[in-house]
Amino acid sequence: MDFPEASTPLSDLPGLTPEDAAARLRISTKTLRNWESWGWIAPAERTQGGRRRYSEQALQIIEATGMAERGKRVRTMKKETEIGTKGSARSATVIAVVNHKGGSAKTTSVVNLAGVFAVEKKLRVLVVDLDSQANCTIGLGFSPYTLTAKRQLFISDVLLPGGSPQSGGGYTALHNIRDAILHTEIEGLDLVPSSLQLSDAEIPLINAMARETTLSRALAHLRNDYDLILIDCPPSLGIFTTNALWAADHVLVPVEAANYAVAGLTAIVNVVRAVRELGRDVNILGVFNTRVPGPLTNSARDALENTKRIFASTYIDIPIGNTVASERAVEEGNPMVVSSPKHKVSESYRQLAEEVLRRVG
Ligand SMILES: Nc1ncnc2c1ncn2[C@@H]1O[C@H](COP(=O)(O)OP(=O)(O)OP(=O)(O)O)[C@@H](O)[C@H]1O
Ligand SMILES: [Mg+2]
Repeated sequence: MDFPEASTPLSDLPGLTPEDAAARLRISTKTLRNWESWGWIAPAERTQGGRRRYSEQALQIIEATGMAERGKRVRTMKKETEIGTKGSARSATVIAVVNHKGGSAKTTSVVNLAGVFAVEKKLRVLVVDLDSQANCTIGLGFSPYTLTAKRQLFISDVLLPGGSPQSGGGYTALHNIRDAILHTEIEGLDLVPSSLQLSDAEIPLINAMARETTLSRALAHLRNDYDLILIDCPPSLGIFTTNALWAADHVLVPVEAANYAVAGLTAIVNVVRAVRELGRDVNILGVFNTRVPGPLTNSARDALENTKRIFASTYIDIPIGNTVASERAVEEGNPMVVSSPKHKVSESYRQLAEEVLRRVG
């Protein structure tokens, strides 16, 4: 079934009966009712005949958040912690910031969240710049040109396959990700930088063996060195973002506060579901609105209301305001939360960081 545009009113969607919806999520109808009353799932609509129907869209979002498996996961968590696998305190949590729509504040959000986590939460944070625009690298105070002149290794050097299996190179990268790490001026905050070179890596990576897992395999070397790894994705759902999703435990989706920006979110839900179906346990942790104008325009108000209604409890109700100070901070190469900690937008990013930590658990 095609995934309807996110802006389609729920009542226009082909709905599932409570029994069918519960069966699909492998939960009881009583649990489904509970989820609805707790605001975890977008509420059922009533058809003309008075039957309750859950929208296909609401179910697909629930599948992308992994909520149905969460109960099971809590039960197995203790065991996992004991044997030191995923869920262990020593293993970094990986969060990818994803939206194929350009200019949705992915980079701004990565840089500011990383700033809060490192400076205020004293966590060991690694930012991976996965965009050839290198905005994150610049936003954390580095010039890709200067770095190139200094023969710095970039994320492209880590992702490029080392050679074909026939040539004996196998599918591992030529360079270890550890050799590409830069320490930023912020204590506890490291960066794997990017440059325009990354665009040259796209085709070789598409042709590489186990191409979706390249970043995940690289980051596996570092999981014990950091508390959090944040990946700044490019504005596409191509091979780099797929790599980020494969490497990530969670996905954060910033959405510009404009109604046209909400419609495209369906594609992100679908790609996360696809990666989950391939066996990678990644989930959408939260969706939040950025560049929210004050006072609200009609388009921004609609965008906020629609994102909130569609994503139910996955929505993070912490709107990030619009400010010129944000752009200035990028130019200065410092997160706004560091250069203007008292600014309203910095305060919002602080609240967002708290909520992210709460949801990661
Ligand atoms: N809160 C904000 N207030 C004002 N401007 C902002 C805010 N957040 C981001 N911007 C500006 O919006 C533009 C896009 O932001 P950003 O680069 O973070 O988005 P992005 O999703 O990473 O973009 P891309 O898809 O191109 O990578 C930038 O010029 C940035 O400075
Ligand atoms: Mg960006």
